[in-house]
Amino acid sequence: MCGIVGYIGSRGAYDILIQGLKRLEYRGYDSAGVALVDTDGCLNVHKARGKVANLEQTAAAGNTNGTLGIAHTRWATHGEPNDINAHPHVSQSGDIAIVHNGTIENYAVLKKALAEHGYTFKSETDTEVLVQLIDYIHSENKCSVYDAVREALLQVEGAYAIAVVEKSNPDQLIVARKSSPLVIGVGDDETFIASDATPIVGYTDRVIYLKDDEIALIRRGEPIQLSSIHSNTPSKVDIQKLKLSLAQLEKGGYDTFMLKEIFEQPDTLRDCLRGRITDDGSQVVLSGVIDHQDIFAKAERITLVACGTSWHAALIGKRLIQDFCSLPVSVEYASEFRYSNPYLNDKDVVIAISQSGETADTLAAIQMAHDKGAFVYGICNVVGASIPRNTDSGTYIHVGPEIGVASTKAFTGQVTVLTLLAMAIGQIRGTVSRARVKEVATALRSMPEILEKTLKLAPEMQKLSRVFTYAHNFLYLGRGYNYPTALEGALKLKEISYIHAEGYPAAEMKHGPIALIDHEMPSVIIAPSDSLYDKIISNVQQVKSRGGAVVAIVSQGNKSMDTIADFSVKIPRVPECLTPIVASVPLQLLAYYIAVGKGKNVDQPRNLAKSVTVE
Ligand code: AGP
Ligand code: GLU
Repeated sequence: MCGIVGYIGSRGAYDILIQGLKRLEYRGYDSAGVALVDTDGCLNVHKARGKVANLEQTAAAGNTNGTLGIAHTRWATHGEPNDINAHPHVSQSGDIAIVHNGTIENYAVLKKALAEHGYTFKSETDTEVLVQLIDYIHSENKCSVYDAVREALLQVEGAYAIAVVEKSNPDQLIVARKSSPLVIGVGDDETFIASDATPIVGYTDRVIYLKDDEIALIRRGEPIQLSSIHSNTPSKVDIQKLKLSLAQLEKGGYDTFMLKEIFEQPDTLRDCLRGRITDDGSQVVLSGVIDHQDIFAKAERITLVACGTSWHAALIGKRLIQDFCSLPVSVEYASEFRYSNPYLNDKDVVIAISQSGETADTLAAIQMAHDKGAFVYGICNVVGASIPRNTDSGTYIHVGPEIGVASTKAFTGQVTVLTLLAMAIGQIRGTVSRARVKEVATALRSMPEILEKTLKLAPEMQKLSRVFTYAHNFLYLGRGYNYPTALEGALKLKEISYIHAEGYPAAEMKHGPIALIDHEMPSVIIAPSDSLYDKIISNVQQVKSRGGAVVAIVSQGNKSMDTIADFSVKIPRVPECLTPIVASVPLQLLAYYIAVGKGKNVDQPRNLAKSVTVE
């Protein structure tokens, strides 16, 4: 959460920073702020609660000069979202300004100690404590701000990506990271820094992904210096080529990023599948698995860890791996797993799934799994993010930047990769026949065209959304492969429309949630023609007989549901293990149109952030 951006060069920093913040707004939008260092020794700070547009209004009246600056868009963790808690935070001396993404866990202890040295605090944030600590070390040790930053970071516990500027030093920008991400863009005579590469694309395609425990000293006109925070030894500057285009970051004619991303799914699945199935369709080729065949051959157990939508994909992955690999599989919330002291050894494979590749809990779970000797495989979207860099092997889903906070194309990409992965592991272990791989791989290949057809449901889902404007609660039910689809459908609705929605295994409903059903509580039931169709029919009847309205997602050609459900939405037929990919599309559309109908901001729903880099 939180986006940070910085610039040092020959152009005016302000416009670059504002544009960068707009790109990073998906990471949090509680407040925004900017600090600019002018050559005449002025540090100008502007901040405003809410979105970047508010900051622009506030800053318009002030001084926005300077070719060095840092900026921040916040997702509050310590202190409510208001102007005072907004970053940048400035030290008591007025000399040093900081922006921070992360949390300083020992901030209370440090704050108390600093207070004893006469420091007072304006904000409730943990971040202000860090800048005061830097200030204190700088004045006490009479050292440079760079040394003070490094020394302060040795004293803090927690996660951070920070950028620091000094009023009296218009030629210097300092950045450092631990757990939270930070990218440096290297231009000809200018340098950009940001939480991800989106503010940098368009200026340069040369980037450095700062590593954990690294600090960078960026001085105007000089080569960038990287060092380890702990050992203070220089580290190698590894400049990589950025593969991201500006067009990928724009709405391309759609009203919202979310709608664009829903409609992109035929193309994104094409990209996701490219080169991963042999021409005759009989084999899956995942280099991340092939390069580590022995590990997968001897694995005794697989654990999938993730959060949110990625966790729903993991639940589908569990069924896929069970079906194709005959291995015990468990699925864990990364936030629980990391503190659960699980028994793991070198026969364990842990698969971490994350769109952003920066989710703090998932990263911590990876670290823990590594410490216990497990082999860790990453499934990620953002190229070069922390998760792919901290796993032993992995597969990118390659669905392009997902900007809408509600995940859509990343989910279908994750499930697609999990299907490929299950087959790839099954091939190595000899637990899946060539014929079965061919059947599923061929169907996977036709998935882009199938999703094109499925997206034609959009007008029908829009119409349907209007029927349910009365509802304050929804139940989403599914079985087997589509129990996770139900969870995902419910999450989509609640996060963008703020309607309470609960996903449940359809047959479990009668053990409790059935008590909630009345004429005001509609149920969305995912019931494609699969091995559990006959079973789910009775669950639909149980809802109907209690007066609940039913929207059923069924396979094309199904007639029996027409007489039972209030609405039946027909999706193309695919093999059972691929039904979640297809069924999730009408659920995304339903959530989208309900939220838009209620006037909600679907791309930036309240209280949420795209990239959850705090615990
Ligand atoms: C999805 O719509 C969410 N906003 C959220 O649950 C997300 O899936 C979760 O935060 C995990 O993110 P990641 O995939 O980037 O790790
Ligand atoms: N902890 C800081 C704050 O609350 C930064 C939050 C974040 O990175 O999400 O302001």
